[in-house]
Amino acid sequence: MTDTILILDFGSQVTQLIARRVRESGVYCEVIPFSKGAEAIRRLKPRGIIFSGGPASVLEGSASPSAPREMFDSRLPILGICYGQQTLVQQLGGTVEHSDHREFGRAFIDVIEECDLFAGLWPKGAREQVWMSHGDRVVALPEGFRRVAISDGAPFAVIADDKRRYYGTMFHPEVVHTPQGAALIRNFTHKVAGCTGDWTMAAFRREAIARIRSQVGKGRVICGLSGGVDSSVAAVLIHEAIGDQLTCIFVDHGLLRQGEAEQVVELFRGHYNIPLVHRDASNLFLGKLAGVVDPEAKRKIIGATFIDVFDEEARKIGGAGFLAQGTLYPDVIESVSFTGGPSVTIKSHHNVGGLPAHMKLKLVEPLRELFKDEVRALGRELGLPESLVGRHPFPGPGLAIRIPGDITTDKLAILRKADAIYLDEIRRTGLYDAIWQAFAVLLPVKTVGVMGDARTYDYVCALRAVTSSDGMTADSYPFAHEFLSAVATRIVNEVRGINRVVYDVTSKPPGTIEWE
Ligand code: XMP
Repeated sequence: MTDTILILDFGSQVTQLIARRVRESGVYCEVIPFSKGAEAIRRLKPRGIIFSGGPASVLEGSASPSAPREMFDSRLPILGICYGQQTLVQQLGGTVEHSDHREFGRAFIDVIEECDLFAGLWPKGAREQVWMSHGDRVVALPEGFRRVAISDGAPFAVIADDKRRYYGTMFHPEVVHTPQGAALIRNFTHKVAGCTGDWTMAAFRREAIARIRSQVGKGRVICGLSGGVDSSVAAVLIHEAIGDQLTCIFVDHGLLRQGEAEQVVELFRGHYNIPLVHRDASNLFLGKLAGVVDPEAKRKIIGATFIDVFDEEARKIGGAGFLAQGTLYPDVIESVSFTGGPSVTIKSHHNVGGLPAHMKLKLVEPLRELFKDEVRALGRELGLPESLVGRHPFPGPGLAIRIPGDITTDKLAILRKADAIYLDEIRRTGLYDAIWQAFAVLLPVKTVGVMGDARTYDYVCALRAVTSSDGMTADSYPFAHEFLSAVATRIVNEVRGINRVVYDVTSKPPGTIEWE
């Protein structure tokens, strides 16, 4: 069985980052709400436990969350981070108090003793930068503990009980503002908990295939393909597991970019020989969208039509018992609600909503333990082309939300050409991977220009490119002026219907990434 670390979530905003750092150290881990720790220990048989930070105070008495007794009964090594350290200390008989000296942000700790957590990293006497975010602090240690690092605001910045292999840090090693934090977490997973670090995408692939086979048996699976990374990787993985028991359904809504539909069909049918239903529903979608201007109305029409068409195709296949989806881990992680009392809120699954209830299909979600970049790594492991694995995100409603105003086949054709030129230039100059998303927008505005000796009266094309880490906030990409003017020249010269190009420099917020 793969070495596993259990991360007990006390509701910190950055718990996911602990999981990221553990996975980067080559160790599999799962994030579990603190109240479900006991069941998770039985299921996961972890080699170590990490208590996350959290917004509560252990001084709130019974209202504050604590680690289930089984965590300690298990005799597994424990690393408590921030709130996790405080509850560790308090539950084992130490004392925590409100502090007058709150520490938020960058701080320095002094290493006063050596311990396994610091092995090969922080020698005695070192002064290290860390990131703190706490109001309470530990003032007296439980029996068996010693302090190994101090800071101005926290006399027990790092504590260790070498015999029981319990450690606690006041600071957050999982954030990048603690420069050596990832190495510290690696020391916990490898040196303290004894994990070998053998969790690779090759190992995940083998295990996932075995899991899919045992879940599906001889059943049939359908998978909606969008041409994006997640559904493509899920489909190829499932096909490797169960072969032709999988059928992919690709609904082409006529709002894809240049060459996109052909690429999907060629890759899945041609290259992988995966049974693929390619439903060209562009007339249906474009017919329903005719004359529709309101962005929300466009989205609703596309969403509802998509489900109708998918459902229709799924019925034709007949006998499918399973629906495959590319749900990722951030959609799955359950987070703990402190404001709503003791109840546990579960984040909704983004991908599941909207499917017709009568389909009654069981879900196959082979990527639900993975983060986006791990899905990309798995895609590479499966031999998917880089052009697909490293793709920018593309919205479900496609080009419909990049043509403000009404959508026509003429406008779609113009936009496709401009967009292809823009992306071609971005790739050619090696900027593609530095950008989160780049695309062209066709504005419903005509302006006057002059080409040769003739007057033109054509559309304006807006270019958008942003950097972002999760799509929630974004900055416009600072292209060199020469690059933008070269793209503008090519678009105006090569695309009939556009005679002016502008660049969108709005950040998000206040703008959004897409225009509609
Ligand atoms: P906004 O425009 O809200 O976009 O800043 C944030 C990210 O989400 C993508 N996006 C969508 N993706 N269906 C999708 O699958 C949608 O309806 C949708 N709307 C926006 C957008 O491309 C960006 O990456």
